[in-house]
Amino acid sequence: MIPVAALHDDELKAAIADALLESRRRSHHLTVDSLDGPDLLAQHSALMSPLVWDLAHVGNYEELWLVREAAGMTAMRPELDAIYDAFEHPRAERPSLPLLAPREATGYIDLVRRRVLDSLEQLPLTSKNPLLDRGFVYGMVIQHEHQHDETMLATHQLRRGGRVLVDTDPPPPISPPTAPEALIPAGVFTMGTSDDPWALDNERPAHRVPLPSFWIDTSPVTNASYAAFVEAGGYDDERLWAPGGWQWRNRSGKTTPAFWHRAGGQWWRRRFGELEPLPPDQPVQHVCWYEADAYARWTGRRLPTEAEWEKAATWDPATQAKRRFPWGDDIELTRYANLGERHHQPAPVGAYPQGASAYGVTQLLGDVWEWTSTDFTGYPGFAVFPYAEYSEVFFGSDYKVLRGGSWATAEQVARSTFRNWDYPIRRQIFAGFRCARDAGPDDGVTT
Ligand code: AVJ
Ligand code: FE
Repeated sequence: MIPVAALHDDELKAAIADALLESRRRSHHLTVDSLDGPDLLAQHSALMSPLVWDLAHVGNYEELWLVREAAGMTAMRPELDAIYDAFEHPRAERPSLPLLAPREATGYIDLVRRRVLDSLEQLPLTSKNPLLDRGFVYGMVIQHEHQHDETMLATHQLRRGGRVLVDTDPPPPISPPTAPEALIPAGVFTMGTSDDPWALDNERPAHRVPLPSFWIDTSPVTNASYAAFVEAGGYDDERLWAPGGWQWRNRSGKTTPAFWHRAGGQWWRRRFGELEPLPPDQPVQHVCWYEADAYARWTGRRLPTEAEWEKAATWDPATQAKRRFPWGDDIELTRYANLGERHHQPAPVGAYPQGASAYGVTQLLGDVWEWTSTDFTGYPGFAVFPYAEYSEVFFGSDYKVLRGGSWATAEQVARSTFRNWDYPIRRQIFAGFRCARDAGPDDGVTT
């Protein structure tokens, strides 16, 4: 994690150059370094773009923001803008576009990158231009590429064919939390941020939010717990499903999370092309919002609101102050959380006990994105920056907020104020959930 606010100009520029290199290494690894041309041009699922579209799209976005907007240079390949504009062409249309072939795509994005690194040397990052201030626009582009890398991983998961991804770290030691739920006493906390220089517009501004007391799971819901819901007939009990969820369940015919199989009296999962026994202690992933919501009702509970999630993750009741990360301020994220694609799966419940929040809630960052009950809208005082198509055009009741990042989420993106959003039917993302409930009068809560 780059300590953006603490660095001098030259140090910040060096850190930006490194981070640009790192996100590009990752994009190459997920495309031209691991798959051949036909595999890169294929649409592995109607839900996803061909991988070579994502690859050229991140370069085109970088050209728009860093070459044209930040450095003020003219367009390098204006004819590409329409092809790689996500709004002009929904994912299903992208295979029929005149896409750059893999070698043309890498040639183009390399050229963009060379101009970016040259101009980075010249541009003052402390300028009055809010786009350049503390390198914001570079941070935005770095985060954008990493977000597409995570999308590309979802494409890899949908793809048929042998595994091309390997883990770099050994499995972490396990020490499960002693209590299944944590009590978060009533009171006000600070939600969002006004001072993280690389936070995106939808995370701003910081604002005070009062919450009644509530209980929240200290770990995400596991495969074993979710399998119990499946085996108890949860998918056939209309009373457990939101109206839209029951419709989704009947129309889709789904009766398990995505990639689950039942054979020989046990559960299996397909992960990056290979079948393996379903690990009972890992957080469940590839469930949509409706499935998470139905499971929570089955246990007599509910999903946490977005505010509840952020309070449980960041508030320190002893100091009445917000922590940068659940564990505190240490920016060595991979010591505390399973993120940054060090593993290609969630860690079992009980991993990273040192990553617990002040309230003893664990595995908040990394592992799986966590569905919340909250619709994606702007905070009070929200202001578009720098463009409405990042967040604002998605505000409303169509999308649910996800928090915390997954095992696939880069350090530059997995922060406790970051807001992700998706349709409540979405299952190919690396998403799971934890449950919450209102605290009762007998819970001994003092404010
Ligand atoms: C924030 C993950 C919902 O992938 O659609 C990528 C991020 N914005 N390109 C998405 C994004 C523009 C966005 N999500
Ligand atoms: Fe994009």
